Amino acid sequence: MRLIITNDYDEMSKTAAEIIKEQVNRKANSVLGLATGSTPLGTYRELIKMYKNGEVDFSYVITFNLDEYVGLPDDHPQSYHYFMYENLFNHINIKKENIHIPKGISDDFDRDCRLYDEEIEKFGEIDLQLLGLGVNGHIGFNEPDDYINTKTHIVDLAEETINANKRFFKSIDEVPRKAVTMGLGTIMKSKKILLLASGKNKAKAIKETLNGYLTTDVPSTVLSLHPDATIIIDKDAASLI
Ligand code: GLP
Repeated sequence: MRLIITNDYDEMSKTAAEIIKEQVNRKANSVLGLATGSTPLGTYRELIKMYKNGEVDFSYVITFNLDEYVGLPDDHPQSYHYFMYENLFNHINIKKENIHIPKGISDDFDRDCRLYDEEIEKFGEIDLQLLGLGVNGHIGFNEPDDYINTKTHIVDLAEETINANKRFFKSIDEVPRKAVTMGLGTIMKSKKILLLASGKNKAKAIKETLNGYLTTDVPSTVLSLHPDATIIIDKDAASLI
């Protein structure tokens, strides 16, 4: 794994946006795997700026998001669907038909999870997967568990995740208890992975990610097996390494 330690959140975001811009400029129809949460917000802001300055064109780009809360409709302000349109898609020239986000509402999640994987497979694999990091080392919503789930699936959110994400909801009771997430197999098949983390609250998860061992207790440790994974963090997230 390649490690880049930046001075602060802004520098982390600019570094990540540059790498994504280069990817899209090298291959106009790149398949990007995208993440939600506070961490990639700065990266998305930079990409919007680059698009407005004419430095990057998203008209052929295809995207697959990592995850979505079960039970939230697309127009719910805390859904990841809503987040992606608000913070990126509404501000760039991506085509709606090229955007893929798992559905939070379904009458058959097994079928929809299978179709999501099949849709990704149609494009071969993801060219560049952007990842945030949960305080417990989750990536997407792949929570610590006894085993690794390789495909898109439904998960029970960990207590730590519910606590960390309650800041976006009126009360903890409103935080969904389940989510649909891309599996670690699909994430690991991506040609290139960029993991971002910022802030002291991610320092422990970063230390464990870089420890050099693999454990399902810290799902991000699987990245050590990837041939082209880059971790971009700020000084605070690097404070325990
Ligand atoms: C969320 C998302 C992850 C995200 C992580 C960190 O629960 N499912 O994809 O990377 O938690 O979130 P944040 O960037 O807000 O710290």
